[in-house]
Amino acid sequence: MCGIVGYVGKRPCRDLLINGLQKLEYRGYDSAGISLLADGEIDSVRAVGNLANLRVAVGMGTNGDAPVAAPSATIGLAHTRWATHGRVTEENAHPHGDCSDEVHIVLNGIIENHAELRQDLRGDGHVFSSETDAEIVAHLIEKHYSGDLTEAVRSAFGDLRGHYAFAAMHAAHPDTLVAARQECPLVVGMGDDETFVASAIPAFLAETRNALAIENGEIVTVTPDGATVTDAAGASVARKSEEILWDEDAAEKGGYATFMRKEIDEQPDAVAETIADRLPDKDRVDLSELELDPEFVRSMRRIVIVACGTSYHAGLVGRYAIEQWARVPVEMDIASEYRYRDPVVSSDDLVIGITQSGETADTLAAMRLAREKGAKVMALTNVMGSQATRDADAVLFTRAGLEIGVAATKTFVSQVAAMYLVGLWVAQQRDALPAERVAELIAELRNLPSKIQETLDSVEERVKAVARAEKDGTFFLYLGRNVGLPVCLEGALKMKEISYIPSDAYAAGEMKHGPIALLDESTPVVCVATDSPILDKVLSNVEEVRARGADVVSIATEGTPRVAEASDLTIEVPRTDWLLQPIVAVLPLQLLAYHVARMRGLNVDQPRNLAKTVTVE
Ligand code: AGP
Repeated sequence: MCGIVGYVGKRPCRDLLINGLQKLEYRGYDSAGISLLADGEIDSVRAVGNLANLRVAVGMGTNGDAPVAAPSATIGLAHTRWATHGRVTEENAHPHGDCSDEVHIVLNGIIENHAELRQDLRGDGHVFSSETDAEIVAHLIEKHYSGDLTEAVRSAFGDLRGHYAFAAMHAAHPDTLVAARQECPLVVGMGDDETFVASAIPAFLAETRNALAIENGEIVTVTPDGATVTDAAGASVARKSEEILWDEDAAEKGGYATFMRKEIDEQPDAVAETIADRLPDKDRVDLSELELDPEFVRSMRRIVIVACGTSYHAGLVGRYAIEQWARVPVEMDIASEYRYRDPVVSSDDLVIGITQSGETADTLAAMRLAREKGAKVMALTNVMGSQATRDADAVLFTRAGLEIGVAATKTFVSQVAAMYLVGLWVAQQRDALPAERVAELIAELRNLPSKIQETLDSVEERVKAVARAEKDGTFFLYLGRNVGLPVCLEGALKMKEISYIPSDAYAAGEMKHGPIALLDESTPVVCVATDSPILDKVLSNVEEVRARGADVVSIATEGTPRVAEASDLTIEVPRTDWLLQPIVAVLPLQLLAYHVARMRGLNVDQPRNLAKTVTVE
């Protein structure tokens, strides 16, 4: 999740663009860049690291040097990057140019068909200067350009497949920027004699509060006088701008009250981008980026997953999927335990370290230990250039973008999605699943982003009602079986870490072996009872609990009325393959913890005693 901003107007725009980027740094900041057009020439500066480095590189000072006067350019593009394709280097930072540096673009998102487009363009003689998928767009516009920038962008837009938004500038058009949107956010800021394009409103809110939303599949041509919106076919689209009333704090959070709530809403995008170009066909998973020897994958004896906290829970879901689909034994361990138990591990084992930050000390140590003992080590992380990427033989990136809220949400669902990709890919390498079943599951995976959106749109009011009823509780119990258990563990962790209410998650079948003693009328019990081959077992545990007078709130798959009959209150989630249910079933639990904490007036973004990244032993 990167940040893009563009300006065309009457004012010199270097500082406007850089200040706009500053407001978008919550979207990612491993590198940044700016391109300014003046006198028919595009001048571009890019820098690795956070925005301060770009400020120095463009002469806006802060390293003690006197600031350099802003160039006269009144049109430009700028970008802050969260790398997904291509390492964190200056060459891979945006803006990207075409072969003659006449077209420059900035892009947020993923181009799914970048490999085949790059091949075709190379065949036509185009020369690429970066490893990114984004650079494709500049060359496609160059290929289609014959004097009309909007039409060249429209043609390029037609060639692209993916999840993105981009803005383009051409040296021959000093008064025009053209931008396009496919899923990723894009908005226009309408000023007096000036217009902005950006991935989010905070980029221009200090300059204008007049915003025009760009919808999916639309192209917008902006000049100092305003914006013209057209659809992919070229038909004009009428759209009214609206006045934005956010204060500074809300602006920093993209209009949300908290980062956690914003990140909960970013989960459809996080999963869409994480699976995007890894499902190139309807019956094939492509994880060639892992660079794991297929022969090793076919013959490996076992998979061991090590992680901490929420990442551990994502691993637990992954275990069920990998064992079910690939029939490879999967061992799970909490990294801080694994590293001190002198584990038995060998060269025909694959050890997967899951860590969103890529910097968690216990997980890194567990990965290093496994590597020292000869195992192949793979890292699943959200941060390019993090230590985990250096401590592993293979790396798979989730693409959730920067997560600021301490309580992990979008990184959890993107880790679970990545685990599903690994399970299916290993199954394919080992011919463990019939092709039709693989195709079925790939179709289901592709539907997950919309199922997540559907859940977020449908459950919140019911969740808030439960939060209102239970916010003063002294204990929450979560019960589940099979893939429902890691969802419970994650729900209980969220409740503990942001609402500070003691909470426990238990395998429902274990209740009668002790924990049932905890129950009375005042105990809220949250039961993950999504449809699965063992739903009957879960429902008999629900009856056990209700017989002790406890209130049961169940998470159920739509179309399973018997769960509602057995529970006091039911929150329904959309149907998917039963092994994929955790990715939607966790959402009401994230929201429950969130609303209980908010109703208790707590700081959900920075809970007490917690850090986002635990680098201490
Ligand atoms: C989750 O909400 C917590 N922030 C915490 O448990 C976290 O998952 C754990 O510290 C692991 O972090 P990592 O994924 O960056 O390694």
